[in-house]
Amino acid sequence: MATLTINGKKHELDVPDNMPLLWVIRDVVGMKGTKFGCGMAQCGACTVHLNGTAIRSCVTPVSAASGEITTIEAMADDPVGQKVQQAWLDLGVAQCGYCQGGQIMNATALLKQTPEPGTQEIIDAMAGNLCRCGTYNRILAAVERAAGKEVKS
Ligand code: FES
Ligand code: FES
Repeated sequence: MATLTINGKKHELDVPDNMPLLWVIRDVVGMKGTKFGCGMAQCGACTVHLNGTAIRSCVTPVSAASGEITTIEAMADDPVGQKVQQAWLDLGVAQCGYCQGGQIMNATALLKQTPEPGTQEIIDAMAGNLCRCGTYNRILAAVERAAGKEVKS
């Protein structure tokens, strides 16, 4: 049995301690915005926040997920998440979209921790989030826009 707080709501869940948090979020709780990519902490598609820090939910056992878990579904109600999502829309970042929830979660965690990151800081912070469609330039521009910087064309 696990008690998880996801997006401010408490869930009592009858799941094994070693079940990955990603499975719990998607298959048990039924929130499908967090994606499965590699399952090995290599792609970032499964990124959620645990107590405000971006984590890879595919390799986090549910027993280690104590505290506040936040998923992409909550970003529309988060002031920083809203800015990031608006920048994503303004610049038309997404291509197929599969990686983008994880990208937005990672970018939001970065901007909460470092509201005015330098360009290289953004590149470094986003390096673990892969995009098979190659939207990296637009992701960088969108994070800079969400941070209130000029967007280079
Ligand atoms: S699915 Fe978790 S990092 Fe790829
Ligand atoms: S937009 Fe397709 S994988 Fe990133």
